[in-house]
Amino acid sequence: MRSRTEGDHLTLFLGLLLSVCTICLLPANGEICGPSIDIRNDIREFNRLENCTVVEGYLQILLIGDKTNSANQESFRTLSFPKLTMITDYLLLFRVSGLDSLSTLFPNLSVIRGRNLFYNYALVIFEMTSLKDIGLANLRNITRGAIRIEKNPELCYLDSVDWSLIMDAEFNNFIAGNKQSKECGDVCPGIMEDNPQCIKTSFNDNYSYRCWTSNHCQKGKA
Ligand SMILES: *[C@@H]1O[C@H](CO)[C@@H](O)[C@H](O)[C@H]1NC(C)=O
Ligand SMILES: *[C@@H]1O[C@H](CO)[C@@H](O)[C@H](O)[C@H]1NC(C)=O
Ligand SMILES: *[C@@H]1O[C@H](CO)[C@@H](O)[C@H](O)[C@H]1NC(C)=O
Ligand SMILES: *[C@@H]1O[C@H](CO)[C@@H](O)[C@H](O)[C@H]1NC(C)=O
Repeated sequence: MRSRTEGDHLTLFLGLLLSVCTICLLPANGEICGPSIDIRNDIREFNRLENCTVVEGYLQILLIGDKTNSANQESFRTLSFPKLTMITDYLLLFRVSGLDSLSTLFPNLSVIRGRNLFYNYALVIFEMTSLKDIGLANLRNITRGAIRIEKNPELCYLDSVDWSLIMDAEFNNFIAGNKQSKECGDVCPGIMEDNPQCIKTSFNDNYSYRCWTSNHCQKGKA
């Protein structure tokens, strides 16, 4: 009787050990980070994202300095988090100087779930002084919520994105106060060589090639 109980305890113990180790093995290839990540003030804070494949919650990146603009620009050229594929709440960018595209930073970000929103928004890009294009070339689905892209004086490649391929609520999007389209001269890959590479769709009464930057086509509906 007694040894039987001990045997049960042992089984329970081994079972617990096994399940704990299954959990501890998961992060070998990547981690679920969070709840929520707020990166501000210092570019070194980005290190917190280094192993993340999913950010559970929101990702906010804000208030990264003006004084060190040129130094930031240098760092942003190589800073990259290719493992990150999903954010479950929203992505917010506000006053990060020296960042001219998100194409290298988050090359594989493909889904923003919008489970919890920032007001009604799943993607907010506000007063990003240096941003020239969004460049989220793998972004395929904003599951819930709209986008707000406002007061980014250098930001182009806005008309070249067909948001209806990514989201269902694109009529609630707010895009204003960015670089004027006529000053942008957006060119999708291959246009200059008369060999267009990107898909052509109709969006906002404009049948046109779809791309995120001069090097990155927008992908079709998943
Ligand atoms: C990322 O993983 C490496 C290797 O396991 C570890 O040394 C590092 O501390 C982790 N970084 C963070 C921010 O968790
Ligand atoms: C995106 O992720 C895949 C696999 O998850 C990886 O092989 C690839 O290098 C990543 N892409 C970039 C641009 O880093
Ligand atoms: C249509 O979109 C293209 C590509 O972004 C842009 O260059 C063009 O100015 C747009 N045309 C109109 C009428 O909005
Ligand atoms: C985004 O994904 C959700 C859930 O998988 C799906 O219901 C929705 O139709 C997708 N939206 C677009 C625009 O692809």
